[in-house]
Order: sequence, then C-alpha cells, then structure tokens
Amino acid sequence: MGKNIIFVFSGTGNSLWAAKKIAEELENCEIVSMGCPKKYTLTDEYDVIGFVYPTYYRGIPAKVEDFVARFDFQNSRNAYFFAVATCGSVNTACNATAQLRKLLKRKGITLNYAEKLAMFSNYIIMYNMRDTALEESRESACNLEPIIGNIKKRTFALTKLRIKPFEQLIYKGFVHFAPHMDKHYNVSDACIHCGICQKVCPVNNIDYGQDKKPYFKHHCEQCLACIHHCPVKAINYKDKTQNRKRYTHPDIPWQELSKLNSY
Ligand SMILES: Cc1cc2nc3c(=O)[nH]c(=O)nc-3n(C[C@H](O)[C@H](O)[C@H](O)COP(=O)(O)O)c2cc1C
Ligand code: SF4
Ligand code: SF4
Repeated sequence: MGKNIIFVFSGTGNSLWAAKKIAEELENCEIVSMGCPKKYTLTDEYDVIGFVYPTYYRGIPAKVEDFVARFDFQNSRNAYFFAVATCGSVNTACNATAQLRKLLKRKGITLNYAEKLAMFSNYIIMYNMRDTALEESRESACNLEPIIGNIKKRTFALTKLRIKPFEQLIYKGFVHFAPHMDKHYNVSDACIHCGICQKVCPVNNIDYGQDKKPYFKHHCEQCLACIHHCPVKAINYKDKTQNRKRYTHPDIPWQELSKLNSY
C-alpha cells in the first residue's frame, strides 16, 4: 500500500478534524503541521498529498503560503494533490483554494482536486460564537463525505478556481496587519498559568514573562486558538471578546492540537 500524507494548519480544530477524517479513509496516512518553521522535505514517495487549512480573510493563512513555498516535494511530484479549505461560509472563501493552486503551479505541481468545506465560523474578534457547534459539526461531517469519496476516487475537479482581484485586496490588507494584531491581545489576572495557550499556538508565538503570564511575540497568524482554548477566558482582544462565548471543535481536545504543533 502506498504512503499518503496530509499537511494541516488549524487553530480551533476544524481543519484538524477534517484532515483526520480524510486520513482515516485514505489509510496509511500521516498528518503533519504546516506551522513548522523549517523547510519540509518529502524524501519518500507518496501517492496522495493533501493540504487542509482554514480560510483567513478570503484566502490561505500566510503560514500555509510560507510552508508551501519552502516545501520540497522531491520524489512525489506525480502524487495526487488535493486541498480542502475549511471556512465559515463557502461564499466568502473565494480565493482560499485558488491561491494554493497558484503556489503549487509555481513549483511545477498540479493541484488535482480542491474543495471548500463550511464549518463553524470562529472569528470571535468580530462576532459572538453561536450555540450550535454540535449541530454544525454534524452538518460538516455530512458535507465532508462526498469530498472524501472524490479524494478516494482520485477525482480531478477544480471548480471556479480563478483568483478574484477584489477579494485579493481584502486578503492582502489582512495578511499585512495580522502578525502585529496580537499587540491588542491582553491577558487578565484570571490566568491560572496552565500553559494551554502556548501549547496550542501553531506558530510558537507565545512565551511566558517573569510574572508567568503569557505574552505574544508579533508573528501571530490570528488563528485565535489561544483565545478560544483558554479555560478561564483570560486572553481577550481589546475589550471586544470578554463577554463572547468560546468555540473549539467538539471532537478535538486541545491536547490534539498541542501534539500536532509540537514539531
Ligand atoms: C483570521 C480569520 C479570518 C477568517 N476569515 C474567513 C473568511 O474570509 N471566510 C470564511 O468563510 N471564514 C473565515 N474564517 C473562519 C474560519 O475559516 C473557519 O472557522 C475555519 O474552519 C477555522 O478552522 P480551524 O478550526 O482549523 O482553525 C476566518 C477565521 C479567522 C480566525
Ligand atoms: S498567538 Fe494566539 S492567535 Fe496568534 S498564532 Fe498563536 S494561538 Fe494563534
Ligand atoms: S491558557 Fe489562559 S489560563 Fe492558561 S496560561 Fe494561557 S492565558 Fe493563562
């Protein structure tokens, strides 16, 4: 049986959950974090190579772009390549897969299949979290089934994969400001120094000061894992999130994200 691999980026667990479901069906499939700061080289030959990641401001997380740019495929150039962009709404995930196709093309790789998967929308900075996490996760599971079927059949399908210039402008603005938006994060005295925020951060952007409170190192991806996973809601964005509910995928405990990100 051939080897398969899925590269994942995930803050609140949606993309990790989707990647795990796909991996179960593909068999013999590893899952690797795209938060990795080093150049990643695939020395073995793989049959299927997948990328599963959230949509950020209509596009792909900057870290995913960075990872793919430094990625060395070596013996797997002819593998079946797929992408699944999880998102709050497929209508606002416009460029999330088109951008990946372009990046891969620059490296001489053809993306064979790309799909968007609507999941719970976690952008707590702008709105409160809904109470429907369980229902929405069940719906996402139904929507993921045909996608998995297509990947297993090695379907070639790239629908509407043209980069939209207006969406690209929104995306560029966000990507420029995102790393420093953590200047607006604050940590309250409610902090119990449990260390979860540091462990779930996919890009090692959190350290502890002498007061044992976390501080942020300004290469933030805005994945919001730290805000959502803090058990006492001690991390907040300005004065916007204190009274908002938190969300993490119901089937992905923080320990799984911690394990994924301990590259
Ligand atoms: C910074 C940020 C920007 C986002 N922008 C979009 C967007 O433009 N369109 C969309 O549909 N969802 C957007 N979302 C929602 C996420 O893509 C969605 O909740 C995703 O499934 C989260 O995946 P994760 O749990 O693996 O981190 C955004 C979320 C964040 C944190
Ligand atoms: S500091 Fe928080 S929001 Fe920023 S990348 Fe790390 S976990 Fe995500
Ligand atoms: S997750 Fe919350 S309580 Fe735990 S160390 Fe981070 S800020 Fe403190």
